[in-house]
Amino acid sequence: MTDLTTTTYLGLHLRSPLVASAGPLTGNPAMWERLEAAGAAAIVLPSLFEEEIEQEAFARSFAIEHGADVYGEALSYLPDLPMPDVGPAHHLTLVEQARERLSIPVIASLNGTSPGGWVRYARHLADAGANAIELNVYDIVVDPAMSSAEVEERYVELVEAVRAEVDVPIAVKLGPWFSALGNLAVRLQAAGADGLVLFNRLYQPDIDLDTLEVVPRLALSTSAETRLPLHWIANLYGNVDCSLAATSGVHDGADALKLLLAGADVVMTTSSLLKHGPEHLAVVERFIREWMEERDYESVGELRGSVSRRNVADPQVYERQNYYQVLHSWVPERPR
Ligand SMILES: Cc1cc2nc3c(=O)[nH]c(=O)nc-3n(C[C@H](O)[C@H](O)[C@H](O)COP(=O)(O)O)c2cc1C
Repeated sequence: MTDLTTTTYLGLHLRSPLVASAGPLTGNPAMWERLEAAGAAAIVLPSLFEEEIEQEAFARSFAIEHGADVYGEALSYLPDLPMPDVGPAHHLTLVEQARERLSIPVIASLNGTSPGGWVRYARHLADAGANAIELNVYDIVVDPAMSSAEVEERYVELVEAVRAEVDVPIAVKLGPWFSALGNLAVRLQAAGADGLVLFNRLYQPDIDLDTLEVVPRLALSTSAETRLPLHWIANLYGNVDCSLAATSGVHDGADALKLLLAGADVVMTTSSLLKHGPEHLAVVERFIREWMEERDYESVGELRGSVSRRNVADPQVYERQNYYQVLHSWVPERPR
């Protein structure tokens, strides 16, 4: 029998390397037991956004000052967010309930804006019972005066500050847009991160040619998107001691296996579960087990990282050669 239980993520012992990442399903209590029954080894709740906290605080104080009858009017001044299901109170209750109902670890996620907000709400999430906290540093820096060194320093300081405040494990969910990701990864680990979640997807807006408005377009991922986390996890494996989680593009067992071979401790999925429902996790797990059994792997620990960059003598030369080879590997189907 293939053993998937040799999975440790953020110091948490998991029954398999399959985690349901932050998204609408993990935020829906009606889905929790289904996710657990289908094989989720842990769930990451949707992020608590600091803007929601401010919005709730504003709406409350407005209602107190002006009376409950104008509360609805107050809400209409605010950004168009679904009020009943947002805010810190809702989130903290979500964490508490998930912990009560599930036997798998519950990871809370936080997206702050101010240093004080990150730290304060990390503490609240930990107090609510989260087994770990994922810091979702989705941060598009548009100020040309801000240097990449300053941005990275801000992330390091953020991890140090949260680390000083909470005892639960901390993961940092990053985007891929860094010129020296390896260096940042090492610094985040030294600052107290127990794991890195690679990568956040940039939700790129579009322009509507009829209205000339910028429109948000949320497209679910495809398997092709695993290549970016695959590349970087293979590079980081062995260079950092913290856990590595892969997110983006995991749709089937083959995607998951590749990321484990590259060195991921766990693979996370959101889009595939939105497309196929929570039970899809069992399909992914079955594929992994069958693939491993056919090749006589006894445990997932045996295969993890076996196709990482650690097996390459000079990774920088390897990267350069790969780039050259891939550009010259293109063969047109027929001349045009
Ligand atoms: C509708 C939707 C909501 C999401 N909400 C969050 C969130 O609250 N916090 C977060 O860190 N990531 C969030 N994500 C990102 C996912 O957790 C995941 O990292 C990303 O979708 C890439 O994984 P996938 O290819 O499996 O979808 C969301 C994704 C989707 C599609």
